[in-house]
Order: sequence, then structure tokens, then C-alpha cells
Amino acid sequence: MSTLSHMVEIFWFLADPFIFMGQSLSHLPGTILSVLRTGDFATLLSPSRFHTAWFGRFWAVAGPEVRKTSSPRVVPLLQGRVRHGVATDQQSGPPVGGVVLEVGAGSGMWPDDDQTGGGAITKIYGVEPNPASHAALRRRVRESGLEGIYEAVPVGIEELGHSTKWDGRIEEGSVDCIVSILCWCSIPDPEKNIAALYKFLKRGGRWYVYEHVKARRTVFMPLYQRFVNLFWPRIIGGCEMCRDTEKHLRAVGPWEHIDLVQPPAEPWCHPLPHIYGTLTK
Ligand SMILES: C[S@@+](CC[C@H](N)C(=O)[O-])C[C@H]1O[C@@H](n2cnc3c(N)ncnc32)[C@H](O)[C@@H]1O
Repeated sequence: MSTLSHMVEIFWFLADPFIFMGQSLSHLPGTILSVLRTGDFATLLSPSRFHTAWFGRFWAVAGPEVRKTSSPRVVPLLQGRVRHGVATDQQSGPPVGGVVLEVGAGSGMWPDDDQTGGGAITKIYGVEPNPASHAALRRRVRESGLEGIYEAVPVGIEELGHSTKWDGRIEEGSVDCIVSILCWCSIPDPEKNIAALYKFLKRGGRWYVYEHVKARRTVFMPLYQRFVNLFWPRIIGGCEMCRDTEKHLRAVGPWEHIDLVQPPAEPWCHPLPHIYGTLTK
């Protein structure tokens, strides 16, 4: 690669978060109009409710695109074909199966039969507190023929154990697999909430992870990430760029096996570097 094309590539990597923020901002007028049209002034006057509505509207459009670009990594992960951050054709672990808890399902969901390679899923709890995402999530459940298996749980992790907050109950130690895809950037208090989820996982249960996290490579990238993060959470629904999710996951409790790394193919100038792999309890 010539020096010029290398520099152009670096430029696009660094510009990418600003392009994404521009896309989110383009949904701001539509969100305001729709809130005004429905006369929901409480949402207009509450910054957190307004942010949630804005992000839900943006993610209904951006989510499927992010899904498309993430699929080449996420699908092999859920099928048990990822080793040391590389997706391969060979099975290196079990696929997602049994009782599954998908965290921060958003407007779509990841574990369905096509994507898990027949991992015999018996039940999926899709935990998603944002009401603006529920209609799209339920539509996808119907389209995927997962009614009766996929249950959209309309609360945050914090409220999962409270039987008064939703019509169901998940026992501690009863979940075979947790799936968290690009959500720990948005979930408040990750250390506490990761600890809460760990309790639901069975011994021998697996946690499948694909998350963007804080940058570590070079001196420049962590500083650049911190600069972008001055604006990013305010425009991308509270998403934090500089989270150390890997540290919280590793420290949450004893794991029998961990295969969780940054994909080696990711360049040093990636402003949203990932962690990718599984942890087995
Ligand atoms: C960036 S979106 C990712 C959605 C989805 N996993 C995907 O890949 O398209 C992050 C999601 O986490 C959800 N979230 C935020 N706080 C949460 C909480 N306390 N418990 C569970 N999910 C939460 C948000 O509502 C949002 O839908």
C-alpha cells in the first residue's frame, strides 16, 4: 500500500465517528417533531427520556447497518467458530444454545437459528429497556418465527431480578449462554451490571462477547478517543467510547476458560477497537 493510500485509510478511520454522529444528528429534527405530534411533552422536557427516544429512532435505521458490518464476526462467534479473535471454518467451541439471555437486544436480535448453527436454543430472553426499540424487536421476533422462544424483556438488567417490574422471572444459575453484542458501551454502571448477569449464568455456561472498548494501541489513539468521547455519548444515546469492559468481565468472578482478545486484523487507528470471544464459567 502506498504512503498516500495508507494516510487516506487512516483519515477515514479517524473521521468515521464524526460521520456516525452526523447520521445520528440527522434524526434529531424527526424525533422532536414526532414527540410534538404525539403531545408527549414529558419526553421533551426530560433529557434522559428524550435521549432514549432519539437513540431508539436513530438505531432503528443505524442498527441494521451496524448489524450487516458486524455479522462476519458475530455470526461465527455465536456458532462457536472463533479462536483468539479470528473467525474460522472450524468449530472451536459450542454454539449458543439452551436458555439464552441477550443483553441490550436493541431493535433486532442476534441469536436465531440461522445464526447459531443449530445450537438447540430452548428460550431466549431479550433484555431491552428502551421502549422506542420494542416494536421493531417484536417484529423481528415474528419475522424470524421465534414467537414462543424469544421473549422481549422490557426492563434493564438492574430490574431483571425484580418480579414486580416485568411478567417473568429468571432464576440465578439458570442461564446457559449470555450474548452481549455492542451494548456494554451504553449500559450504565457496567461493573455492577456485569456482576448481576454473572449470577444468572450456570456453571459451565458461556458468555459470548463482541464489544467496542477503550483504545490501547499507540499514545495517540487513547487521547483521540477521549477527545471524540467529549461529544459521542451526547449524540449516540449515552454510548461511551472509553469503557474497559474487558477488565470488568475478567474480574467479575472465576472463569474456567477465557478466549477474549482484540481481533488481530483491527488496525491501530481504529477509533472503536473491539474485544471478541467467549468466557466460560
Ligand atoms: C448500541 S445498542 C446495541 C443493540 C444490539 N445489541 C445490536 O447489536 O444492534 C445498546 C443497547 O443497550 C441497551 N441498554 C441500555 N441500558 C441497558 C440496561 N440497563 N440493560 C439492558 N440493556 C440496556 C440500549 O437500550 C440499546 O438498545
